Amino acid sequence: MRITLCLTANKPEPWQAGLRAALPQADVDIWQPGAPAAPADYAVVWAPPQAFIDAQPGLRALFNIGAGVDALLPLRLPPSLRVVRLDDAGMSVQMAEYVCHALIRHFREFDGYEADARAGRWSYRKPRERADWPVGIMGLGVLGERVARAVGAFEFPVHGWSRTPKRIEGVVCHHGADGLDGFLAQCRVLVNLLPLTPETENLLDRHTLGRLQPGAVLINVARGGHVVDEDLLALLDCGHLAGATLDVFRTEPLPADHPFWHHPRITVTPHTAARTLRAESIAQIAHKIAALERGDPIAGVVDPARGY
Ligand SMILES: NC(=O)c1ccc[n+]([C@@H]2O[C@H](COP(=O)([O-])OP(=O)(O)OC[C@H]3O[C@@H](n4cnc5c(N)ncnc54)[C@H](OP(=O)(O)O)[C@@H]3O)[C@@H](O)[C@H]2O)c1
Repeated sequence: MRITLCLTANKPEPWQAGLRAALPQADVDIWQPGAPAAPADYAVVWAPPQAFIDAQPGLRALFNIGAGVDALLPLRLPPSLRVVRLDDAGMSVQMAEYVCHALIRHFREFDGYEADARAGRWSYRKPRERADWPVGIMGLGVLGERVARAVGAFEFPVHGWSRTPKRIEGVVCHHGADGLDGFLAQCRVLVNLLPLTPETENLLDRHTLGRLQPGAVLINVARGGHVVDEDLLALLDCGHLAGATLDVFRTEPLPADHPFWHHPRITVTPHTAARTLRAESIAQIAHKIAALERGDPIAGVVDPARGY
């Protein structure tokens, strides 16, 4: 069995060593553009170029080292090729930390306390009612459900929105295009955890964000392509939105002249909410390759028609 690696943003050598240790029977190569490549059975990839896919027509599965596969689906892939995403692999707890931190920072006005402390001011803010801060999670998949449970543990009212109906204890679940307006109208804090697909691209525009409760906060941890940047800025500037915490952007790294960097009510982090953890990811991929070799089914196979 041969595995080939094409990791455009990561050093491939530690992945090669980890996969060799986990699957000693496998030959594990690193793809070199332009060099002849031995035909592989499996590929482990991050944002591979089309040339890589074209050079490996015999692949049985393509393992993406992230949860979002939006960079893969525009490629011309053989119809029979299975695309497999990471299922959690240590990401969901990181996502829960990130979102709860951002939510609590806004709710408890910690930025204001920090400014007071810098100015040597001892001043209290009036406690806020949790009931006035319902949190909506868009996307109730592997990450969204974990985040919904973490937010619920802090006793915020929690709403969720997904494509198909769900039942999650402690979460008021909404679904489908028909359920979107009702969901948004319930939310003071909106957490985006949708995959980027043709249906969800540009979904967060002046109409949808405008339906949130006044003084709302956006936490975008999914993809930059979900948000219409100018509409977000307009809603912050007119005061309908009180703040935004953004981890993902249309262009990454966020260009130096982008207005998000210096907006007083936007916090920017560099796509770091839930990082790929190498050891967990290698263990999961090795486990799935072993299952495929035995002919067993695996979780996390992407449906190309749905786009996630
Ligand atoms: N910032 C970071 O560091 C970071 C790290 C990892 C992942 N991410 C992002 O997080 C995203 C979510 O990851 P995940 O593992 O939770 O994905 P997932 O398990 O595939 O879940 C996706 C959820 O979105 C819902 N959904 C998809 N299309 C929809 C639509 N048109 N309308 C309503 N709901 C829709 C799905 O509904 P159903 O349940 O009905 O199918 C599902 O609940 C990834 O795609 C990636 O972009 C970001």
